[in-house]
Amino acid sequence: MTQKIFITGASGGLGAEFARAYAAPGKIIAITARRQSELDAVAATLDCETVTYAVDVTDHAGLKAAAADFIARYGAPDLVIANAGISAGTLTEFEEDLPAFERIFRVNVVGLFATFTPFVRAMQGKGGTLVGVASVAGIRGIPGSGGYCASKAAVISYLESLRGEMKPLGIDVVTILPGYIRTPLTEKNPYMMPFIMDAPDAARRIRRAIDRKASYAVVPWQMSVVAKLLRLIPNWLFDLAAAQKQRKPRAVEGQKM
Ligand SMILES: NC(=O)c1ccc[n+]([C@@H]2O[C@H](COP(=O)([O-])OP(=O)(O)OC[C@H]3O[C@@H](n4cnc5c(N)ncnc54)[C@H](OP(=O)(O)O)[C@@H]3O)[C@@H](O)[C@H]2O)c1
Repeated sequence: MTQKIFITGASGGLGAEFARAYAAPGKIIAITARRQSELDAVAATLDCETVTYAVDVTDHAGLKAAAADFIARYGAPDLVIANAGISAGTLTEFEEDLPAFERIFRVNVVGLFATFTPFVRAMQGKGGTLVGVASVAGIRGIPGSGGYCASKAAVISYLESLRGEMKPLGIDVVTILPGYIRTPLTEKNPYMMPFIMDAPDAARRIRRAIDRKASYAVVPWQMSVVAKLLRLIPNWLFDLAAAQKQRKPRAVEGQKM
């Protein structure tokens, strides 16, 4: 049976690699992001039927129209991967960081709801999967990255609620927590990134977790050990270690969002 997939944030980075990890003749893959030219470049590398939608995940009407077009052309998707996300340092002592904090939440958290909601009725009872891309950064709050960490913590909780809500509708929900992946999002990080992976490798491993419908998967596995330790260590020790870490550049310092 033809597998139909809808992926956000697929003009580059991990999202483009998800599309490549799934692409095969007979499949239908929709890739979405804001930059049409980049979407076209990714589409040209996919060995399957591809459709592109240039839409911002904060444009809810635009996302709804893209979903409606996809459903009208191909029917309900088997898989929706809400991957679009942004990251920048934010510091509460600077009022000018408020728009960045707000934007991070609108893209990373509200964007997931907006991505999934137009598909739910069509997917009901058909055994499809909704995937949300969270982050290991959602486990503890790293100083200087309050907006990003809080957004990913919210994503983890939201997806947990969603899992219970979707069960009676026959839709699976997968929560993915990547560790560090080499993409434009991490290229300006001024700190050490343990167990950093190349995006194609990460996408293939994440695909395996999605295909087995894991409810919650940390990739790579070494970061799941780190994630467990992070949950266990007391605040005094976490604060001591976190204080040593260099901070992510803020949007006003040139971090692209
Ligand atoms: N890289 C890592 O180490 C890492 C670790 C943990 C979690 N993650 C998560 O993995 C996901 C993908 O990250 P990445 O590293 O691949 O980042 P990336 O290379 O910066 O790519 C982000 C993608 O999201 C799209 N995007 C950004 N804002 C958007 C918006 N408002 N509406 C629609 N699309 C938007 C971008 O395309 P356009 O600019 O064309 O819109 C791009 O395709 C994110 O949710 C991120 O938080 C990444």
